[in-house]
Amino acid sequence: MYIQYKEIELENIVFYFSGTGNCLKVAKIIAKELDNTEIVSMGKPENRILTKQYNSIGFVYPVYFWGLPNAVKNFVEKINLTDNGSAYFYGIATFGGWAGNGIPQLNELLIYKHNIKLNYGKTLKMFANYVVVYNMSDKVNEITKKSNKNIIHILNDIKNKKSNDIKKSKKLFYKIYNKNITKFKDMDKDYIVNDNCTGCEICAMVCPVKNIEIKNKRPNFKHTCEQCVACIQYCPQKAINYKNVTQSRRRYTNPEINYKELSEYNNK
Ligand SMILES: Cc1cc2nc3c(=O)[nH]c(=O)nc-3n(C[C@H](O)[C@H](O)[C@H](O)COP(=O)(O)O)c2cc1C
Ligand code: SF4
Ligand code: SF4
Repeated sequence: MYIQYKEIELENIVFYFSGTGNCLKVAKIIAKELDNTEIVSMGKPENRILTKQYNSIGFVYPVYFWGLPNAVKNFVEKINLTDNGSAYFYGIATFGGWAGNGIPQLNELLIYKHNIKLNYGKTLKMFANYVVVYNMSDKVNEITKKSNKNIIHILNDIKNKKSNDIKKSKKLFYKIYNKNITKFKDMDKDYIVNDNCTGCEICAMVCPVKNIEIKNKRPNFKHTCEQCVACIQYCPQKAINYKNVTQSRRRYTNPEINYKELSEYNNK
């Protein structure tokens, strides 16, 4: 009598961090293509504990000042990857104009903290969303079409577990990164909520790090801001502004990710 051993099929996991939906959209596309894939937010510290062995582990995040968002840096530093050293590791850094150390920083952090090298890392140009710094483009459809095309190549590579060489990070980029990223948590002190606010709570729902509490039907910011701009962008009343800077600027949210979906994934 033969005992047949079935090869155990390991699951996949893709971690994401997203303010305006670009990275969630990419994570969703990957999960659909790979099957059997969990989509997990890096905004929640409790998600750093892995209880299974995975076939592939991905990180999808936006580039902030040529590097990683604080939440992503903290998440990757503290995640428990014991038992998962032999998974296929990949990173996708979405960016709007210049990705800088977006991928090298993740690779070097994984090596430094976990002795794990990224197998594959790619930057993906998407819509540039940093409304606090510039008036965003009105060419949403054009830019989205281009990025959709580029996602296909990345998807194929990941599906086939391709490897690529990850460049070393550049010190000069870190100078600019460190100078800016350390200011983020308190920048919400300069968020002004105007009288158009209806108390709908959407801003609190989309905040990936629960930095917003609704009190007396108004958002209150708790100074652990990631500058992801989700609250500014998803507010249906344009009621949240940075100083007197963003009032007349357009708003952007990924056309395929509405506030309900973003909030559902963030709070899973
Ligand atoms: C705080 C902040 C800093 C940013 N810095 C950069 C940057 O250095 N380089 C770049 O190309 N894009 C930068 N961007 C644009 C985002 O990386 C890009 O729009 C990304 O796709 C947004 O993803 P999301 O929709 O998932 O939040 C920045 C955006 C924000 C909010
Ligand atoms: S999303 Fe806008 S309107 Fe709704 S509670 Fe927040 S600030 Fe007010
Ligand atoms: S308060 Fe607004 S900008 Fe800050 S992390 Fe939350 S959603 Fe992002």
